[in-house]
Amino acid sequence: MRHLLTLFDLTPAEVRSILATAVHLKSLLAQGERPPILAGQTLGLLFEKPSLRTRVSFEAGINQLGGGSLFLGEDVGWGKRESPADFTRVLGQFLDGVVCRAKSHSRVEELARYDAMPVINGLTDLSHPCQALADILTVGEVFSQLPDNQFDLASLAGREVLFVGDGNNVARSLALICAILDMPFTLACPNGYAIDDIWIERISKAYPKAKLNRVERPEDAIGSADVIYTDVWTSMGQEAEAAERRQIFAPYRIDEKLLAAAPKTACVLHCLPAIRGEEITQEVIDGDQSQIIRQAGNRMHAQKGLLVWLMAPEWVEANIS
Ligand code: CP
Ligand code: NVA
Repeated sequence: MRHLLTLFDLTPAEVRSILATAVHLKSLLAQGERPPILAGQTLGLLFEKPSLRTRVSFEAGINQLGGGSLFLGEDVGWGKRESPADFTRVLGQFLDGVVCRAKSHSRVEELARYDAMPVINGLTDLSHPCQALADILTVGEVFSQLPDNQFDLASLAGREVLFVGDGNNVARSLALICAILDMPFTLACPNGYAIDDIWIERISKAYPKAKLNRVERPEDAIGSADVIYTDVWTSMGQEAEAAERRQIFAPYRIDEKLLAAAPKTACVLHCLPAIRGEEITQEVIDGDQSQIIRQAGNRMHAQKGLLVWLMAPEWVEANIS
């Protein structure tokens, strides 16, 4: 039984296989084909926090693959009505997989502990692996050397990713996928908001050649960036710190002045939802270098690759080289 709790659960070859599956399914969809690879399978979506992209992209994605989904909100009483052991093993009687968005990462680990069904992390305070898969799919399309901007894995190695803002769940997963795919990663953040040492050490241990940097001023790294990424300054669950963070992060806003110092070929990404005018300006989010809407759309394509890889590995074996 496989789970995706963080990208440490995958080998680089498995990440490439998921991306290749995603690309294949995306091109089939463009031709109007929706192969029912997961017909009869049911995906649960167990969410403790709000979501637009993650929820809708997984639900639409499994539908396109011939399966069905169930949204499981507060009323199923996760952690409230019965023990985790009972809850999880009962859920496994009905579901073929579950996507879980939890307030704390340990909750998702607990769900996977019983191997009752494949568990996919749909965002925790620690990481957001599905987001990182979609981000990389997008970067590989933007810098593609192939016809029709088809995803090009070879175009990724060496591409410099600059994350401007908080060293949060999205930044952690992005740093890790960059290490997996040989892409230098730099975080520009105020002191006290860097990615934690434990995560950085885990990456460096698993990927000794990883190029991970940190700068205090985005201006010091933006000149050579291929990808400029940001996320909200206050993540879900940190609302009490919002006013303080707004002040601390003010010099980290991606605006036209900062972007002017980047190569003209650089693309701008944001996992969304964004606070327009706060971490990124209206002009940049809607500007020529923004790939943010394509990036959101790729959530579904990347996750279709992931679902098929997890729930129909024999199909991947037979159809993806
Ligand atoms: N980016 C992302 O995970 O969006 P949602 O919170 O809307 O799912
Ligand atoms: N860092 C943000 C991402 C939302 C998709 C959060 O955790 O709220």
